[in-house]
Amino acid sequence: MASISEKMVEALNEQINAEIYSAYLYLSMAAYFDSIGLKGFANWMRVQWQEELTHAMRLYDYVVERGGRVKLYAIEEPPSEWESPLTAFEHTYEHEVNVTKRIHELVELAMSEKDYATYNMLQWFVAEQVEEEANASEIVDKLRLIGDDGRGLLMLDTELGARRFVPEQEDQTQ
Ligand code: FEO
Repeated sequence: MASISEKMVEALNEQINAEIYSAYLYLSMAAYFDSIGLKGFANWMRVQWQEELTHAMRLYDYVVERGGRVKLYAIEEPPSEWESPLTAFEHTYEHEVNVTKRIHELVELAMSEKDYATYNMLQWFVAEQVEEEANASEIVDKLRLIGDDGRGLLMLDTELGARRFVPEQEDQTQ
């Protein structure tokens, strides 16, 4: 197999940074939800934080496997306050749409470089982003329905509190 190009490695390193930023953003949202007593929402965000770190490591391991050099860049400071649970989840959804755009740009780069192995590896991320957007969008819809109903919010908090992180080796769908 042809060695991976410097350009591709650099783009993947930038995506490692973006995934770690996503983890940081969601951990900051977990802290926001903890600060307003919504432990279930905070749990959901903690699971998301763990998932994002596995996304970063999936790319890290791939770069190493291809003989590229992983480089870690500074992680941007995430926001720490949101107006409401709804604005936090709207932010989550917009963020994921943005990540999808980045993944699609990586796919286009892999295609233009005729780097079929990277193209193939990225297909996992293409599918994952469909799920990421759908998950966030579903919670945005629920929060819009709930509006100012405190009971509805507490019921959703209980639902989100049930989410558990599933390590990759135990999740055969990944
Ligand atoms: Fe790593 Fe939320 O996409």
